[in-house]
Amino acid sequence: MENRGNFGSKLAIILATAGSAIGLGNIWRFPFTTGQNGGAAFIVIYFACVLLLGIPGMISEFIVGRRAQTNAARAYASLGRKEWRFVGYLGILTSTIILGFYAVVAGWCLQYLLAAIAGQLNGDTQYIVNYFQEFSSDPVKPCLWGVAFVFITHFVIAQGVNKGIERVSKLLMPLLLILLMILVVASCMLPGAVAGIEFLLKPDFSKVNGDVILEALGQAFFSLSLGTACLCTYASYFNRDTNLLKSATQIALLDSAIAILAGLMIFPAAFSVGVQPDSGPSLIFITLPNVFQQAFSGMPLNGYILSCLFYALLVFAALTSTISMHEIGTAFFHEEINLPRKRAAWILTVVCSAIAVFCSLSAGAYDLQLFGMPLMDFCDFLTAKIMLPVGGFLTSIIMGWLVDRKMVQDEFTNQGTIRESFFRAYIFSIRYIVPCCILMIFLHQFGVI
Ligand code: TRP
Repeated sequence: MENRGNFGSKLAIILATAGSAIGLGNIWRFPFTTGQNGGAAFIVIYFACVLLLGIPGMISEFIVGRRAQTNAARAYASLGRKEWRFVGYLGILTSTIILGFYAVVAGWCLQYLLAAIAGQLNGDTQYIVNYFQEFSSDPVKPCLWGVAFVFITHFVIAQGVNKGIERVSKLLMPLLLILLMILVVASCMLPGAVAGIEFLLKPDFSKVNGDVILEALGQAFFSLSLGTACLCTYASYFNRDTNLLKSATQIALLDSAIAILAGLMIFPAAFSVGVQPDSGPSLIFITLPNVFQQAFSGMPLNGYILSCLFYALLVFAALTSTISMHEIGTAFFHEEINLPRKRAAWILTVVCSAIAVFCSLSAGAYDLQLFGMPLMDFCDFLTAKIMLPVGGFLTSIIMGWLVDRKMVQDEFTNQGTIRESFFRAYIFSIRYIVPCCILMIFLHQFGVI
């Protein structure tokens, strides 16, 4: 078999994996979920989820992947029992579904980027609302953009781990940070921005209930790319001397920092023009274009420029994430059925494009429903609320209870070359805290407790 490739440096590891983690989940889902769940109190709970469940979960997937240096299914099987490969299969299936509907939203961002550049997002509030409704209910256009996004992802993946994933991450992640900083500064300098900053930083725990905690956990999983063997696949390209604890912590902090910055970009601007930020998924397609225009009219950095920067930011963030979802399946088909990498990538591209088309149609043009939900919402529900937690739960049970503890310790400490002071905390968390929390939240979700 040809050389699998490895990320070339520590920086490449961090940027590629952070690229997977940082995506629409941070810049689109986090702000509106925060808006709907009470602002700062939600963020506090979210942070707790990241620290208590997220980082140990990430380390577990890192251990599985880096140890085996192979695709997710074989990596899980190699832990000891053949049946564990089903955890890998589940991850591959989950990430394929996610890529399908994620590409739809990413496609909207791409279309909005071009519309922003062409100056088509100028107009009054009603115009922007109509623009979105017209676009999203068109049967053809959004499908084409979604499929286009899958194809762009395909093109990067086909170039391989180093020339594709690594190179694109190294280019896009710094750019993303720069764009975000410009937007945050512009937004926080608006008159009346303080109300937005307060909303984000002043916790009001009276709004917290079981549902809020469930949302926070789901968001943490989704944002850290946990539970789908995505991190396991990326870790199979890590070096043997990569410090897994340190990398997981750095990536989790970076991911959370970007989410907060996204909030600092959106809420101050929204509050400054008197818009409530709880409008749900359409926040970035209806509320924000309006906000940018109103808030920044007549300024040197005007609505036009900021809209272009904003949608470019979304497209970059989305692309580094779709790449990671695509890679899970591509690595699997490439290594398990011995297809050349490019052909393996085509399998995923075709399947995900089909899912994207159906999801896209269900989001506007046609009434495609499953279990009483539009197909797109159903895919989101099925993955974020069921498949990701199940994947995370099974991984924690395998790593905490079923595999040889010495093996886990050796991987955690890189064969004893790193201090093991945190190992006990990790094991405790992965044995008790992670599975119990996931289970409780899962049961709560279905009304059992
Ligand atoms: N974490 C990404 C985001 O926040 C989405 C993502 C990428 C993902 N890869 C994943 C989510 C794998 C779940 C599983 O947008």
